Amino acid sequence: MQKLKTNFAGVIMRNPLILASATTGWDGERCHQAWLNEVGAVVPKSFAPPDKFAQHPRCGRMKIIRHGKNRIGMVNIELYTTMTLEDWLKTDLEKAYQGGNCIIASIVAHPNPEDTGINARKVQDSGRVAMFEINVSCPMPADQSRVGFQMGNDPETCYRQVKAVKGGVSLPVGIKLTPTTHNMVPMAQAAESAGADFLTIGNSIRSFAGVDIATGLPKLPAYGGYSGPAIKPITQRHVAEVAKAVKVPISACGGVTTWEDVIEYIMLGATTVQICTSIMWQGYGHFKTILKGLEEYLEREKLESLDAIRGKTLPYITTIEEASQRPALVSQVAPERCTNLKKGGCEVCGKVCFYGAIEFSPRLRLKPEHCDGCNLCVEICPVGALRLAAPER
Ligand SMILES: Cc1cc2nc3c(=O)[nH]c(=O)nc-3n(C[C@H](O)[C@H](O)[C@H](O)COP(=O)(O)O)c2cc1C
Repeated sequence: MQKLKTNFAGVIMRNPLILASATTGWDGERCHQAWLNEVGAVVPKSFAPPDKFAQHPRCGRMKIIRHGKNRIGMVNIELYTTMTLEDWLKTDLEKAYQGGNCIIASIVAHPNPEDTGINARKVQDSGRVAMFEINVSCPMPADQSRVGFQMGNDPETCYRQVKAVKGGVSLPVGIKLTPTTHNMVPMAQAAESAGADFLTIGNSIRSFAGVDIATGLPKLPAYGGYSGPAIKPITQRHVAEVAKAVKVPISACGGVTTWEDVIEYIMLGATTVQICTSIMWQGYGHFKTILKGLEEYLEREKLESLDAIRGKTLPYITTIEEASQRPALVSQVAPERCTNLKKGGCEVCGKVCFYGAIEFSPRLRLKPEHCDGCNLCVEICPVGALRLAAPER
């Protein structure tokens, strides 16, 4: 669809959806499959890791995290590509490129930035890629070599990596930053000042997969990366903070499952959106489902492109101090919706009110003088009968 066409750091993509670097792009054939399923661009599995990180565990790498029956996220202990750069250059980039695929080459940042630049140059010489993404954010490597997320926590390192790659190639260069940090802004600004053409925010979050209580053993043997729906609020915080602090375009990556998630990230300032876990769970065809949702949204909203909504939310994100000064609201009930008022029984809201503002005597009675405006009853009500509003006088 023409309206979804996206200019990302000078590269024209048919839509803003990108296959994030992961298992789903582990070889050329898989990258091609994603392209056939209408993705806008593909990031193959990160190229050219230092030797000791060129092999990943093959005794189980993924653990889905569930809440009840629902999948909320996934912890993985997968490293980078296990193919050599030579194999990618000889065969698999060509396979990935079939049909004119728009390929973003993910390059693992080496401790010496010159090495990162040399690898990027070799990939550019293949003539098969459109741009570069420097990976300083893998959450697994945690030793003295500082490969991975430790690099992505140091502004000076981010600056030097971008400078080195920019010095070696002519195509646009971005850097994939880590959400395993309390503040991504200094790294984003350092990358921007080194000439980065875009930022990818972010990667999976360093985490632990859990304990098998029958054996006492860890569910995965090493610390890994947390991804999927559960990390969206964390990635969104980083995207919003960075979008307010830099001018370079942003590719948001964290927990996207639906077209609505894409719209949220665009409203937070992103230009493109990368997806990994939901494709791992649902297959490449899921791109088409998300694209259909986006197309219908544009039609419904009578928008010519996503430009009209980019960054729309940012001016409304304030400080906690300012929000604390706003007039207090209290919980109010719509009697025609409330199950308790109509037929009794439901007392879900009362259990979560820790201020004594909800009573059952025997039917629901709100006590606005006790309400602290926390909104939990509104969130928990199964029928949407409660809302926060200005107190009635
Ligand atoms: C199994 C697995 C392997 C991954 N491998 C890479 C990788 O090689 N390079 C990289 O930059 N990110 C890698 N990632 C991170 C994803 O690209 C993505 O940033 C992260 O999963 C968050 O997006 P999501 O919530 O849509 O999964 C991997 C993620 C998973 C789950």
